Amino acid sequence: MRRKLIAGNWKMNGSVSANASLLAEISAGGVDVAKADVLVCPPFPYLTQALDKVQGTAIAVGAQDCSVHDAGAYTSEVSAGMLRDVGCTYVILGHSERRSYHAESDQIVAAKTLQSLRAGLTPIVCVGETLEQRESGATDAVVGAQLKAVLEKLDSAEIAKIVVAYEPVWAIGTGKTATPEMAQEVHAFLRQVIASFNPEAAATVKILYGGSMKPDNAAELLRQTDIDGGLIGGAALKANDFLAIIAAV
Ligand code: G3H
Repeated sequence: MRRKLIAGNWKMNGSVSANASLLAEISAGGVDVAKADVLVCPPFPYLTQALDKVQGTAIAVGAQDCSVHDAGAYTSEVSAGMLRDVGCTYVILGHSERRSYHAESDQIVAAKTLQSLRAGLTPIVCVGETLEQRESGATDAVVGAQLKAVLEKLDSAEIAKIVVAYEPVWAIGTGKTATPEMAQEVHAFLRQVIASFNPEAAATVKILYGGSMKPDNAAELLRQTDIDGGLIGGAALKANDFLAIIAAV
């Protein structure tokens, strides 16, 4: 039985005061730890603020990216080791916004995944197809290639430690959600891809869905056999919506 993970990707949003209110409201919402693991991923400058605010709660804190390097003259970069050092436990990698706006290749995502695992972080490896790719019937080929590029760089034990997030690019921030059946189909396919590398890990690795997940569609998505949680963007910035999604598990 895979425990669900509800993760909020705040993207480039927030301020000291807005984060303080959001985290206070989420903490006060009485996150049901029996139901799911809960994670928030603020921008880099606010990670320590979030870590401080969630102390004593079951809420984990993660980052939205990390460097492929360990340390050194890499202006603006943040290493996986630094994230672990301040107390983060997760890092989102290969989000489609990184892939498209920062030309992140599958190889870069694989290198970052290795860095995060070595630092003791749980990487959330994002994959997803564009609308054009879906309409041309290339979804499985695209997401399969994105995932394989990472899995082939990991050993069996490392594969068991990752989280995968399926985020159809056409559903991100658009209000268009993949139907639960569409999402389930891709999640089942991704699980098969994991099984081709490590059959045991395929049963335990969490595969999250991301793309306009909201309180009104969360329950049906989360009910699917191979959907193990959500990577939530917009709705993670509203405490009531985020709490409602957790409650929908
Ligand atoms: O990482 C989160 C996803 O990009 C989903 O964003 O919930 O605003 O569509 P969204």
